[in-house]
Parts: sequence; C-alpha cells; structure tokens
Amino acid sequence: MANENNFAELIAHCKEYGYIFQSSEIYDGLAAVYDYGQNGAQLKKNIRDYWWKSMTQLHDNIVGIDAAIFMHPTTWKASGHVDNFSDPMIDNKDSNKRYRVDHLIEGFAEEQKAAGKEQLAEEILNSMDALLAKDDFAGLKQLIDDNKIKCAISKTCNWTEVRQFNLMFSTQFGATAEAENIVYLRPETAQGIFVNFLNVQKTGRMKIPFGIAQTGKAFRNEIVARQFIFRMREFEQMEMQFFIRPGSQMEWYNFWKAERKKWHQSIGIPVEKLRFHDHVKLAHYADAAVDIEFEFPFGWKELEGIHSRTDFDLKQHQEYSKKKIQYFDNDLDENGKAYGNYTPYVVETSVGLDRLFLTILSLAYQEEKWNKEDGTEDSRVVLKIPAKIAPTKLAILPLLKRDGLPEIARELMNDCKQSFQCFYEEKDAIGKRYRRMDAIGTPFCVTIDHQTKEDNTVTIRYRDTMVQERVALADVKKLVEEKIK
Ligand code: GAP
Repeated sequence: MANENNFAELIAHCKEYGYIFQSSEIYDGLAAVYDYGQNGAQLKKNIRDYWWKSMTQLHDNIVGIDAAIFMHPTTWKASGHVDNFSDPMIDNKDSNKRYRVDHLIEGFAEEQKAAGKEQLAEEILNSMDALLAKDDFAGLKQLIDDNKIKCAISKTCNWTEVRQFNLMFSTQFGATAEAENIVYLRPETAQGIFVNFLNVQKTGRMKIPFGIAQTGKAFRNEIVARQFIFRMREFEQMEMQFFIRPGSQMEWYNFWKAERKKWHQSIGIPVEKLRFHDHVKLAHYADAAVDIEFEFPFGWKELEGIHSRTDFDLKQHQEYSKKKIQYFDNDLDENGKAYGNYTPYVVETSVGLDRLFLTILSLAYQEEKWNKEDGTEDSRVVLKIPAKIAPTKLAILPLLKRDGLPEIARELMNDCKQSFQCFYEEKDAIGKRYRRMDAIGTPFCVTIDHQTKEDNTVTIRYRDTMVQERVALADVKKLVEEKIK
C-alpha cells in the first residue's frame, strides 16, 4: 500500500499510466480539479457500476435516478445550504492564505503528535471539537492564538478573526445577469432525490421502507483543497436516501452503518483500515451522523458519511414549494391502526467516488523488490486492484509479430472482448509488456507462442503472484470470467 513516504510516487504513477491528469494541465492546471485518463475513467466506471448494482439490483426496494446538476435555486434555500453550508475560515494577513479552521488546528495537532506530544495534541483536538460544536468562533481564534499556530507560508501568527464562508458555486442561468437568475452548482446530489421523492414513490408504487440511489457530480468551493483527489472542487458522489417510518431511524441508521462497512470490505478494503467516527457537531439536518474512515497514506480520513436526516429535507421542501410531500402508509401498527399519512424520515449513505478511487489505488499501489536466481535484484511497481474492478481484465500478448501468432491472439481478443475489457499488444519483449500490465493493474496476461500452434495451450500469468501456468486456449475466457465475478 502507498504510505506518506511514497504518496508522491503514487500521484506520479497515476499520471504516467493514464489514471489521473491535472485538469487543463497545458495551462498549468486548475487547483483541486482533476481529469481521469483512459485507465482512471474505466476504473471509476467499474467502481460506480459496482456500487449501483449493489444498491439497485441487489436491494429490491432501492431504485436509481439521475437528476440534473442545476436545480431551482429555492431548493438550496429550503435545504439550508444558502444559510448554513459554510465552514469557519481564517486568513493569514501576511501571506493572504485562507485556511479552514479545523484543518489548520488538525494540522498543528498532527505536528505535535509527530513530535511526541500526544497528550497536547489530544487536548487541542478535544477543545476544537467542543468549540466547533458550539459555533464558538472567538474561542477557536483564541485556541489558535494560545497555541501560536503559524501559517505554513508566512510562518507568522498574524491572523484575521474566524469567519464563515459559503462553499456553493453559483452561476447565471439564461441571458440576463439578474439576481433571480442565479443558480447553484449542486453541492450534494441528495437534494435531487428529495425533490423527486413523490415522483419516484408514485410512479414506482414504492412502499416504505424504500431507497432512491443516485451517482453524479457535486461542486464545492473548498478553501483548502489538497491531498490530490481527496478534496476536490468538482467531484462525484454516490448517495442513497432511505425513506422510513418516523421513529425507526436508529434501527435503519445502525443497519446501514453495518451494511456499508461490509460493502467496503467486499470491494477489497481490509477491515483494519476502516473505522467509524461519530460526528461531534451534527449538520443542520441530522439527528445522528457517523463517518466511515479509511486510513489513507496521510492518516485516518472520512470516506463515507451515514446520516440520519430526520424529516428535515422533505418538510423544508414541502414548506418552500407549498406542495404536500407526504406518504400514506396503510400498514397496521401494533394496535391494529393504519399508520396513515406522515412525512418519511431518511437515513442517507453518501460516499465520494473519487475518495473511494483513491482508497482503492492507495491499497493497490505496491513497490516490490526481490532477488533473482542469479543473485541480482529485480523490482516492479504493481497496482493490485481487485480483479472485479480492474480497468483491463486481460492482456493478450502474442510472443512474436509473425508466424500466425497475432492471428490466434486476435481471435481470442474477439471472443473475449464481448464479455470483459481486454488489451492487445505485440510490441516489445514479453517481460517489458508484463511490467507495463503490472503497472496498469491488469490481473491476467495471456501469451500466445509457438506451442499454442501445436497443442492449443497458452501461458496465463497472474499479476499478483507473477505465477505462470499453461492452460487450454479454449478455457481462457471462462477462467477470467470466473475470477472477475
Ligand atoms: N449528502 C450528504 C453529504 O454530501 P458530506 O459528508 O458532505 O455529506 C459525503 O459528503 C461524501 O462526499 C464524503 O464522505 C466524501 O467522500 C465526499 N466528498 C465531500 N466533499 C468532497 C470533496 N471536496 N472532494 C471529494 N469528495 C468529497
């Protein structure tokens, strides 16, 4: 797995092998915005498809939608984002650099920990959590002053007061730049689900409890956007809102907590790299919230959020739209009485696709060294991405460009490409081709050689172990299909 010492190498690797490029790189890039290259886009799609399938196909009470990024501006007034979607910020007057207050303090606490002052770090973080929970900005400023926390650029403690800063991007809709034409780029996909609650419930004849899932872009004007694709200004979310009876939220909250942790394990994340972190300061819409954290190369950080959102969002949309948003439940309660009309409660699961991508790549990235039989050292960089989500499943490599070997290889390619992503290559020595496939994360390579012509067998090479074995050409497709199931 990548660690803090080779994280820069992982970033370089992503660029070199077509995973992630800086956006508009030829113009020196755009901060915290990234493009996915040919391998990255495929891996991202595979992760997204895996999530979509496990939400919608494997749960018969969850359906998926695809709402637009632009929404009526009142949506964001109703959801509370216009008034509340902000972070406390502080500016250094000498460097003019703006920091999110919690990131500045956390960074300082990390430094103390690294210097062996674990207790001090703990105290600072506890004080910060308590002050954030009370929105005590003066107290946060005092904490920064008391600990003489410095700006990383100017190295001074010359700070402004702590202020709130709204994270939504806005743009204008239509030809005139009047205030009523301002629209926002959605900061979460969830609101597209809430405003479509009745549409989906009625047209799908959905019965509570049921869920609506969605994947799509979200935008936040993050102030401190760093750590590669961990915190971006344009990113993708995979969210599911689960609509339930009022009063049952804790039962479903615990259900989804366990379910989502299991799901992350099913995609290859070891359980010891995952943990729960309860929110101290709850968002304006939540009565309980927890993060599933992953141990990234730069420390434990949020990967997914699970939030009990009460009936806040549906009630707000009902109030602002003046349209009744309720559900009629004709099931009987324990007293034999129909539950009747109510505003459903919601438990949400929300994971960042880009963060999950980074999680998978961090785990997959390995620098390996070993001694060969002749005593010399060999090495490779390999991406051990789980086969079921790897961008390319099978590389088909004729040993030579002649003697009818490419023809056999092409035939195999035509047979397999209907079922999974394959890659064909006939250039370079075979060892070099294997290394390139290791670096891209292709789990299986098949080599067609002269023996293939004699006995219809090929060499299959396994990326993780580098073991090679002879198998029947006719069995290759089935063998790979079984491994990627
Ligand atoms: N609808 C609830 C919601 O949006 P959130 O905790 O703000 O909750 C959910 O975001 C997930 O979206 C996070 O756990 C994270 O994986 C991802 N995410 C949030 N901000 C992000 C950013 N700036 N860059 C990349 N991913 C982000």
